[in-house]
Amino acid sequence: MIHIEQLHKDYRVGSRTVSALNNVNLHIPRGKIFGIIGRSGAGKSTLLRTFNLLERPTRGAVRINGADITTLGKAELDRMRQQIGMVFQNFSLLSAKTVGANVEFPLKLAGGHSKEERNRRVDELLELVGLSEHKDKYPAQLSGGQKQRVGIARAIANAPQLLLCDEATSALDPETTQSILALLAEINQRLGLTIVLITHEMQVIRSICDNVAVIEAGEIVETGPVADVFLHPRHAVTRRLVAEYTHDDFDLAGGGAASGRRLRLTYTGEAAYQPILTRVVEQTRAQITILQGAVSRIKDKPYGQLLVEIGGADEEAAAVLDLFRRLDVHCEVIN
Ligand SMILES: Nc1ncnc2c1ncn2[C@@H]1O[C@H](COP(=O)(O)OP(=O)(O)O)[C@@H](O)[C@H]1O
Ligand SMILES: [Mg+2]
Repeated sequence: MIHIEQLHKDYRVGSRTVSALNNVNLHIPRGKIFGIIGRSGAGKSTLLRTFNLLERPTRGAVRINGADITTLGKAELDRMRQQIGMVFQNFSLLSAKTVGANVEFPLKLAGGHSKEERNRRVDELLELVGLSEHKDKYPAQLSGGQKQRVGIARAIANAPQLLLCDEATSALDPETTQSILALLAEINQRLGLTIVLITHEMQVIRSICDNVAVIEAGEIVETGPVADVFLHPRHAVTRRLVAEYTHDDFDLAGGGAASGRRLRLTYTGEAAYQPILTRVVEQTRAQITILQGAVSRIKDKPYGQLLVEIGGADEEAAAVLDLFRRLDVHCEVIN
């Protein structure tokens, strides 16, 4: 759906030039939830804002459905923007208007609907985001999570093909974050629209994204399906973001017996439901010590990760490794 090609964005600050995006190339498939993660100042907002030209790139192409939007005239650009909804961290609601009027606003701007049609559409949207009871309230009378539901209803009012979310859950507590993420996932499924979200939290990526790109200092350093990137991060920045999320502060140099071999085991799909360790111990009689472990989910798929130490002779350890691999467990030998 979106092809970003050799995108650069420089800002002039006084007499200096700051490079916010440096040769970004991205392919975002239709109908998926695509996450872009990076630290503060990495260039996430700048990148997301080039997708509807709120930010004009210095060079490069932003192709949406094949057409490079940087070449569009004003009228075409306005039409294209109606196909793109946007959700903000700070909600950006109109405080003097009711919930209903906030959601109606983009319908009025787009034009072509009667008052009754707009009303019907507002009711439908408020039902979808679970706010039917709150139509006549003002934003100040809502909780953060409810405000973001209004923001989402407003963003999808004109039935866009694409929804851009700039840190949509960063101002919310963990529980509310989960409920907003569940709503975004439901909208993606029910309406089939493509969602691009940016975040600094691995948790958000892990909960709902299909694909992820990692951005650092204006460059994409890693991209792929979430399970691949999350379970086998290659770039140092990705490793740090994953470690932060998993609280993976285990000191790999210390603990355990000095003689043992240390393995990181990762298993997904069917393997996550199997008593893997029991099987390996039964068949090889290996001594396995668990140093750290977690079983969790990426989107709707379970996965497990264990840091273990295996005792015994070299050939026994080789048999253990071989058996893990036959059981579909990814093994990474740490020492
Ligand atoms: N309007 C601007 N003028 C000058 N520099 C900017 C502007 N907007 C962003 N930047 C700089 O570009 C870089 C990326 O910013 P941003 O895209 O907001 O990062 P993120 O959203 O990942 O926190 C930062 O170094 C920031 O200071
Ligand atoms: Mg930002």
